[in-house]
Amino acid sequence: MDRTFSIVKPDGVKKNLIGEVIGRFERQGLTISALKMLHLTKKEAEGFYAVHKARPFYDSLTTFMSEGPIVAMLITGNKAIEKVRELMGATNFKDAAPGTIRADFASDIEHNIVHGSDSPESAEFEISYFFSALEQF
Ligand code: RTP
Ligand code: MG
Repeated sequence: MDRTFSIVKPDGVKKNLIGEVIGRFERQGLTISALKMLHLTKKEAEGFYAVHKARPFYDSLTTFMSEGPIVAMLITGNKAIEKVRELMGATNFKDAAPGTIRADFASDIEHNIVHGSDSPESAEFEISYFFSALEQF
């Protein structure tokens, strides 16, 4: 079974889209194997997105990710990484395919509702950033 990691970002929580996002994953045949709501500090958001440290949007992104509660989840299933990325849509909602989460709900390139791991390596880093072994089902 493949594993990936996803977040309903602070804008998604504020827009009452937690159930909408999880529902889309589950209807695609994916399983929620760990789930928690938490409010990241700026430092914790910086650690999570450390891969983007050199990017011009790093400071703004990590401020956004720490401005309200998020929902973090471990998702399992066949082709979990690809399926979640497909359901999310392109980073910039203007380029996202119709019917994707970002096309339907994002308000700008940064406030795009949802995160999804982009590789098995990043998925494992992200899962262990949020969940202990005992929290993974
Ligand atoms: P994510 O990591 O959150 O799933 O998003 P992604 O792979 O589609 O995009 P990525 O390049 O990893 O960027 C991470 C997040 O940073 C914000 N961003 N802002 N202002 C900008 O040009 C810009 N570019 C990216 C978005 O919130 C993006 O999801
Ligand atoms: Mg990414």
